[in-house]
Amino acid sequence: MTSSYSPESAHLEAILLVGGQGTRLRPLTLSTPKPLLPTAGVPFLAHQLARARSSGVRRIVFATSYRASMFAEAFGDGSAFGLSLEYMTEETPLGTGGAIRNAAQALTCGPDAPVLVLNGDILSGHDISEQVGMHVTRRAAITLHLTEVDDPSRFGCVPTDEEGRVTAFLEKTPNPVTNRINAGCYVFQRSVIDRIPEGQVISVERETFPGMITAGELVLGYADRSYWLDVGTPAAFVQGSCDLVLGRLPSPALPGPCGEFLTMPGAEVSPSAKIEGGSVVGPRAVVESDASVHGSVLDADCVIESGAVVVDSVVGAQARVASGAVLRNAVIGDGAVVGSGNELLAGARVWPGVRLPPNAVRFSSDV
Ligand code: GDD
Ligand code: MG
Repeated sequence: MTSSYSPESAHLEAILLVGGQGTRLRPLTLSTPKPLLPTAGVPFLAHQLARARSSGVRRIVFATSYRASMFAEAFGDGSAFGLSLEYMTEETPLGTGGAIRNAAQALTCGPDAPVLVLNGDILSGHDISEQVGMHVTRRAAITLHLTEVDDPSRFGCVPTDEEGRVTAFLEKTPNPVTNRINAGCYVFQRSVIDRIPEGQVISVERETFPGMITAGELVLGYADRSYWLDVGTPAAFVQGSCDLVLGRLPSPALPGPCGEFLTMPGAEVSPSAKIEGGSVVGPRAVVESDASVHGSVLDADCVIESGAVVVDSVVGAQARVASGAVLRNAVIGDGAVVGSGNELLAGARVWPGVRLPPNAVRFSSDV
């Protein structure tokens, strides 16, 4: 679809929802909120901020709650991104709708302006300008970005008619009527946000969207098939980081040139170690001789000892994986130690600081 709308000349403002606790990513999110986890070498949000900037957004209000102060510490006034950033904090989480309403107090636009709203855990290659253009051209109240997934029951299921009008919004329904889902990037008319009740816990997915549709307001779906990922689970988080390193989703925020893997400053990788699949070796991390690291995120100052195998896993800051240990699809918390001979598979998680003695855990395919 073509449109003459230009978000840049319209000084488009955005609200970024980053108040969730990231429960499914524990223990990684015990100390760091999900949107700040190191992803392809930089805090996850850096990729979203850079993409929003290149789509013409100039000002973003962060809707924070969990560990709120860490966001301002990470991004400050936004000038490093060519953005102006504001921070609005809910004392107790107000849900997605309440958070949007609360953050809107810091917007400067008028009631007829479109406002972009972004979930803070999404990697998306869709054309934001085109989505906003569709919204403006068709004078919608809300325009939702939609994508298709294999299992829509874990998302907001969003059927539309032939003209792209949303006919229902079914959040995490066990019986999805379409594979098309809410991709977590919305355009709201500012006046629609101002109608959300203030200071109350409200879900846009369970209350605002269904209510608007029932009331006959024009809620549109902007559907496309570009790269899209919600990084809410460990497997998806690792996948997102690897996809960025491998260039499957171009990001202006990548810290340097990447190939099969990305090494951060001060990292030490033995020439006989094998690193591939979009892995990141974090700042000052060490990968010793004959270790094998595939599709994984190694955080700052961690050590992968000689001969250890790390596949599709996250190794937290200052953690240590001893010689001969094997990780597949595992999450190792900050400062934890996985002793030699352990084999951690299929979603295993080790909490920060825990020391797993040698040969404590082993899976066998014979059982
Ligand atoms: N400020 C604030 N306050 N932010 C919140 C709150 C809150 O009370 N609750 C959630 N958020 C933020 C989260 O930090 C995240 O960025 C976003 O809102 C969505 O929350 P998630 O917890 O990640 O929701 P989800 O992934 O289960 O489902 C949502 O995203 C899907 C797409 O990934 C829904 O919007 C679904 O409809 C959608 O399909
Ligand atoms: Mg999510």
